Amino acid sequence: MKKNVRECVTYIRSITDFVPKAALVLGSGLGGFTEKLDSIVCEIPYSDIPGFPVSTVSGHAGKFIMGYVEGVPLICMSGRVHYYEGYAPEDVVLPLRVMHALGAEFLFLTNAAGGISSDLKPGSLVLLRDHISLFIPNPLIGENDPDEGERFPDMSEVYDPKLRELVVKAASEADVRLESGVYCQLSGPSYETPAEIRLLQRLGADVVGMSTVMEAITAHHAGMKVCAISFVSNMAAGINTHALSHEEVKEAGIQAAPRFTRLVKAAIGTVKSYEAE
Ligand code: HPA
Repeated sequence: MKKNVRECVTYIRSITDFVPKAALVLGSGLGGFTEKLDSIVCEIPYSDIPGFPVSTVSGHAGKFIMGYVEGVPLICMSGRVHYYEGYAPEDVVLPLRVMHALGAEFLFLTNAAGGISSDLKPGSLVLLRDHISLFIPNPLIGENDPDEGERFPDMSEVYDPKLRELVVKAASEADVRLESGVYCQLSGPSYETPAEIRLLQRLGADVVGMSTVMEAITAHHAGMKVCAISFVSNMAAGINTHALSHEEVKEAGIQAAPRFTRLVKAAIGTVKSYEAE
């Protein structure tokens, strides 16, 4: 384990011996989910953890919340840092290493994204089946710790197929419509131009955003089973008829919260059936 990860884990272990089975990262405007935990064991502000990256963006208040959802021990990140804040990729993904080291074997990533595919509308929920990482630095660049994962990890199935299958089934049982798509992470913080969106469309991207792929690569490298869900807060530039704003993205998250909450709860519940099979 790298020194900075060990220091975070040592601090957290001085507060709690809670061992999460799953980790959940909440995206822009989606932080309200933390009120839906069935029980809370402990909360740790990121600012208390030595060397832990702290976000500066409104709508990303930062703390770990540990507790239970559907009987699954869960560590939840309310707030996350983004690459565009100026953090090195290694710092952006540090929280993933920490949650894995605490025991999390499953990772649920959520984000707000711009919709590119014509099948999507604001409010659509999209289960990621793949991603495009080519426009951002790879978070695994640098010295590789063989205890964390291999130097040249395969990326043909980043989003665990069995978990995806279970989540699709759970979404249908919870009566939540769920699309499937390919996500492209760009650095941000500026939104895309219409020409950039036309390019991404040709490359096969269905949704675009400023997070998630760095985290997914890291978690897959570490051997976690990854599931990611995008919430389409807006249609992407050029497809949309008006200028984009962060306020619109946050407001759309608030509107979709009840459906999103039902889906995420159902998704986390699948961990039990994953293990039973
Ligand atoms: N582009 C990039 N990131 C986003 C968008 C978008 O349109 N909406 C929410 N996050």
